[in-house]
Amino acid sequence: MSENSDSKERIIQLRELLNYHNYRYYVLSEPEISDFEYDMLMKELVVLEELHPELYDENSPSQRVGNDINKEFKQVTHKYPMLSLSNTYSLEELRDFEIRNKKIVDEKYSYACELKYDGVSISISYKKGMFIRAVTRGDGEKGDDVTHNVKTIRSIPLKLHGNDFPPEFEIRGEILLPHEGFKRMNDERIDAGEVPFANPRNAASGTLKMQNSALVAKRPLDCFFYGLSGENLPFTSHYKNLNKCKEWGFKISPHIRLCKSIDEVFGFIRYWEEERINLPFDIDGIVIKIDSYEHQKSLGFTAKSPRWATAFKFKAEQAETKLISVDFQVGRTGAVTPVANLTPVQLAGTTVKRASLHNADQIALHDIRINDSVFIEKGGEIIPKVVGVNKSKRPTDSQPFEYIDNCPECGTRLVRYEGEAKHYCPNESGCPPQIKGKLIHFVSRKAMDIGLADATVNQLYEQGLLKNIADFYLLKKEQLIGLDRFAEKSAENLVASIENSKKVPFQSVLYALGIRYVGETVAKVLAKEFRSIEKLRNASVEQLTGVHEIGERIAHSIVEFFSSDENAALVNRLTEFGLQMEAEQTIPQGDILAGKSVIISGVFKKYSREEIKQLIEENGGKNVSSISSKTDFLVAGENIGPSKLEKANIIGLSIISEDEFLNMIGLL
Ligand code: IVH
Repeated sequence: MSENSDSKERIIQLRELLNYHNYRYYVLSEPEISDFEYDMLMKELVVLEELHPELYDENSPSQRVGNDINKEFKQVTHKYPMLSLSNTYSLEELRDFEIRNKKIVDEKYSYACELKYDGVSISISYKKGMFIRAVTRGDGEKGDDVTHNVKTIRSIPLKLHGNDFPPEFEIRGEILLPHEGFKRMNDERIDAGEVPFANPRNAASGTLKMQNSALVAKRPLDCFFYGLSGENLPFTSHYKNLNKCKEWGFKISPHIRLCKSIDEVFGFIRYWEEERINLPFDIDGIVIKIDSYEHQKSLGFTAKSPRWATAFKFKAEQAETKLISVDFQVGRTGAVTPVANLTPVQLAGTTVKRASLHNADQIALHDIRINDSVFIEKGGEIIPKVVGVNKSKRPTDSQPFEYIDNCPECGTRLVRYEGEAKHYCPNESGCPPQIKGKLIHFVSRKAMDIGLADATVNQLYEQGLLKNIADFYLLKKEQLIGLDRFAEKSAENLVASIENSKKVPFQSVLYALGIRYVGETVAKVLAKEFRSIEKLRNASVEQLTGVHEIGERIAHSIVEFFSSDENAALVNRLTEFGLQMEAEQTIPQGDILAGKSVIISGVFKKYSREEIKQLIEENGGKNVSSISSKTDFLVAGENIGPSKLEKANIIGLSIISEDEFLNMIGLL
């Protein structure tokens, strides 16, 4: 058998294997292999597919990693309009729904009761068992084509299992962000000085509309499906069809109940009203659907929604209590958050004493005053928030709330930046919580990885041993012994760990500096593009925004950071202490081309010929100058020489473009 058909077989085999393991992991949550084994299979597939671009398949599991193409979303008309649901907060009205149904359907019928997932609805079309297109709800008639982003969601099958699916159909579901992923994502945003998302739904919808699907792939989105549309569906029962979808590889919630009476429906609602706080994602109600398609048909639709379904919505849990006082918390970035101190009150199973007041505008909008009786609510967010005032209980002598003008920690006058709702303390290097926050960030795992507990950093600061991040490198064992938690050995370990941090790569140092909006990803991009702190500190806003992924906001923040004398001095000190202030010469090193003979031809756009040759070598490959049967592939630029092309074609050599090559070695 030829090498080519061997590769083809292996590619097909790997695709099937990876699809199977995706399903075990993301849908069944029962993985059979380790993450490492999975990654190895994926790596093998990616390499083989790069070597055989002719075997490209847009539904290969490798396509989940997303791509960088910056695209405008195309508007697509839905084949079956995406209607909304009537809804109610009252069980009485639900009884009316049942009475109407009974009048029209004069046979026995059942209700399928489902969770009402609080995310973003999506419609995905499949043809011959293959994922074709994913479109948002939009205005119900037409929505945005977000195929590239949705394909990165691992629990959504790109190729269906079995062979009893209709040749064409659409499936609808809700894309959501489970709590754990939401928290992780927001922690990262806060770390990077970015504004956290208000709740998982906003985060999911923001993510779905991102232009760069490689970034979408990193967000832990999930999707539950709740409806099929199309012809020749296997059953005329909604419930049975959803169960069938499970067999085809779709994620269907196990919490669907077929109820024979409205009282059973009430029971289901009561159960989830209590139990929903234990779900790993948000729901905002229960959807009740007549199960049989024939019965659905006889009930029909209003202009906006089906008559055969309705949603019972849960009220956001609220409580009323007294606002005693307001504290102002200052974060690492200087952002000020007003926090309400409340008379303790029970809310959704916990005692609440404090709640967020968001910012000055929100306080003014609701005219919230000290001693007011306020309503607090627990939404998707972890910390409850004050959402309004019971003005009928307002004391007669109450005074409008006056927001602070100066930082409660250091007294500096607060400022407001354009487009930001919060006030900020601009005294970055002199305001204690900002300094402590910067110190904690500096030693954190993804930064200098020094391995120090927050409390210890605070202690070192309180003791006057640290005034800024460079002071870590002056710490002596003798200064530490005797402090809380420090004995001879632990002091020695800390000093060693600080010394060790001098080896941390440039991109992590850049992240550790705590420049506003320079999170881990941005730091990586900057390190790759500018290569040294020297080049970065001299870069203009224009040069910075010229880099893909760097916008105005980040660029201004970087220029502002380096324009401060204090920061310049800090960076100089860190450089003198021996931290890595330059990217390693061979960032893209790897062994992805190990044993491969690669030939190049033509003129390249992004790199010179010399650089391409160097990249081949750095990734373990061998650059050869003439085509032979031992050549593995050809990287073709523009104006490739005709004789080379002919020869390549004759021996069936794989030809890949510059971008495909860069992608292969991880540079795109
Ligand atoms: S069925 C024509 N089932 O709720 C009926 N919708 O308020 C279409 N939703 O846009 C909807 N969970 O995004 C249905 N189990 C569920 C749902 C659900 C969440 C969302 C969906 C829809 C919105 C309607």
